Amino acid sequence: MPDRYAVIGHPIAHSQSPLIHRLFAEATGQALVYEAIDGGAQEGGFAQALAAFRAAGGRGVNVTLPFKLEALAAADVASDDARVAGAANALRFDRGRVEAQNFDGTGLVRDIEVNLGLPLKGRRVLLLGAGGATRGAVLPMARAGAACIAIANRTADKAGALARELAPHLAGVPLAGVGLDALAGAGAFDVVINATSASLTGAAPAVPPGAFAPGALAYDMVYGKGLTPFLKLAQAAGARVADGTGMLVEQAAEAFAWWRGVRPDTRPVLARLAVPLG
Ligand code: ATR
Repeated sequence: MPDRYAVIGHPIAHSQSPLIHRLFAEATGQALVYEAIDGGAQEGGFAQALAAFRAAGGRGVNVTLPFKLEALAAADVASDDARVAGAANALRFDRGRVEAQNFDGTGLVRDIEVNLGLPLKGRRVLLLGAGGATRGAVLPMARAGAACIAIANRTADKAGALARELAPHLAGVPLAGVGLDALAGAGAFDVVINATSASLTGAAPAVPPGAFAPGALAYDMVYGKGLTPFLKLAQAAGARVADGTGMLVEQAAEAFAWWRGVRPDTRPVLARLAVPLG
């Protein structure tokens, strides 16, 4: 009987995780099955789905929206990234314990540094948005050696509060939280990451063109949507553009390696999933 893994979310029908993990398993010769489980909209749905999967012999799960906070709460032990993010996207069941990780930020860093060839050491990083996606990215960005990190949000107070909360964890990397409207005249950034949910509604956060340094990378965490309004705006400002397909594949590879002890080659999977950016 092959080892069982799953992704739990709601909705879950369009998750790419089963395909990604099947491709990783084939390429590395690992005997496993990976399924998608809908945790449903009802209260307690995630906890029930998790307990049922464990009882059936499951070895670990990925967790996606809207259950990443509950996933951390369900864990007995958690990595620094998961604790600082306040959320987990991967769980492993080990001798009666639930271990939690959050690989979203590491996946983002690996995509930027390895796949896109831009070392983050010494770079000025701007994160747009002050929700869970930004929260998960800050510590891994600091660990990669960013010179400074700014969080800019439509609602300025949320950015300020998040920066104050996260700053003590960053070992001295400067972190500021401001309103989007404070970006005009605030200097230029080498990497500008859209971690808002604006692309999902066909909108773009209002970033001034001057926020993009010459040769800057503009990265939209959403994937499969082609050239989003944010990426269009960034391209018009002269930036190089990327979407979040690589982040998705890299976080999956981190989880796969954590569960199986084997690191899959992400390149063929990334090539298969990538959607042209126009
Ligand atoms: P997640 O956990 O996925 O990051 P979230 O916590 O709902 O989602 O946060 C969504 C983020 O996208 C917020 O920072 C939100 O800004 P506000 O705090 O001002 O609401 C941001 N966002 C959503 N739509 C936006 C838009 N059209 N322009 C700018 N920011 C937007």
